[in-house]
Amino acid sequence: MSNGTTTGRRPVGVRIAGTGSALPKRTLTNADLEKMMATSDEWIVQRTGIRERRILNRDQGESTSQLAAESLKAALAQARLAPADLDLIIVATMTAEMSCPGSASLVANMIGAGNCGAFDLNAACSGFVYGLNVAHDLIKGGAYRNIGLIGADALSTLMQYNDAGRSTSIIFGDAAAATVINATDDTSKGILAQAMHSDGKGWKEIYVPRCSQDFPPGVEPDPSKFDHVQMNGASVFKFAVSTFPELIQQTLDKAKIAATDVDMYVCHQSNQRILHAARDRFGLAEDKLYVNIDRFGNTVAASVPLCLDELRRSGRIRDGYKVMFVAFGGGLTWGSSLWQL
Ligand code: COA
Repeated sequence: MSNGTTTGRRPVGVRIAGTGSALPKRTLTNADLEKMMATSDEWIVQRTGIRERRILNRDQGESTSQLAAESLKAALAQARLAPADLDLIIVATMTAEMSCPGSASLVANMIGAGNCGAFDLNAACSGFVYGLNVAHDLIKGGAYRNIGLIGADALSTLMQYNDAGRSTSIIFGDAAAATVINATDDTSKGILAQAMHSDGKGWKEIYVPRCSQDFPPGVEPDPSKFDHVQMNGASVFKFAVSTFPELIQQTLDKAKIAATDVDMYVCHQSNQRILHAARDRFGLAEDKLYVNIDRFGNTVAASVPLCLDELRRSGRIRDGYKVMFVAFGGGLTWGSSLWQL
């Protein structure tokens, strides 16, 4: 089949054939942040578990789309596929360089993917997990065979690295990570259960105002906040701590399996305390819920696929495993995707 077209053939299974990731060169440590704002390594580690994060430099040619393209190239190499084999590229992101074109079109051009479909998906930190469900079901439905799904974000472009931005800039980092998802004759492979939810009433808990009209009722519009993430950290924390375990339980129930039947939980890296609370709630062994937030911070849509890529490359996720992907974020949005790999 040529790229961008559909076959009408019903595939029988769906698999994750390759993963890859790309990180900016520059590392920003907590010690670096101490020099930029009133904060401390101790405060950041205690509240979030983060020790360092990567920050891109556009002057050096780094961007959301450039990192996304690099990560997809690595995933294609692992899947032993060429860019022209892709039928569709989806980039989950809230920080495309421009509102038009979408990042996916830039990626398709950078890797030489020809005329395949290309679109961005914005569900903030839930974007990649939403994308897994979308890509899986498009393949399962028989219309597409090979999809490149990327989570890529550069929240550093929406931060203030000074006292005014200290409650958000310590949390976020930049990254991209990709998967190549494709059809397989092995019917045992694919999603066992999935969920996508949102609560639009909670939009004002995390938002990026562009103009005075974007501020929620009761909040004084402030031009110094334009293009900077505004987050009610305590509210988001409360939402996440209750939603995470509920979502995991709901997904397990749908699949009719127990928490211990899952080989690995790949969760959005928002805060180490939220991850540990979920792990304790289900009585999971430490190595069953992966944590890399200490090295990368919260990389938004890239967070889940970055964990997946590390886990696959280190052999901690293998063919035949049951893996649960879970994320929550701005919107508010939350979603899960439980796979039989
Ligand atoms: N360094 C030092 N002090 C800081 C600080 C920093 N970087 N940022 C904020 N503070 C201060 C606050 O100003 C506040 O001071 P005050 O008590 O004098 O007013 C104090 O620390 C406590 O702030 P608070 O916001 O209540 O801290 P917290 O314990 O809730 O931790 C977060 C803050 C952001 C780490 C935490 O709320 C969190 O992780 N929330 C979830 C965020 C998230 O996951 N977002 C992504 C969603 S995908």
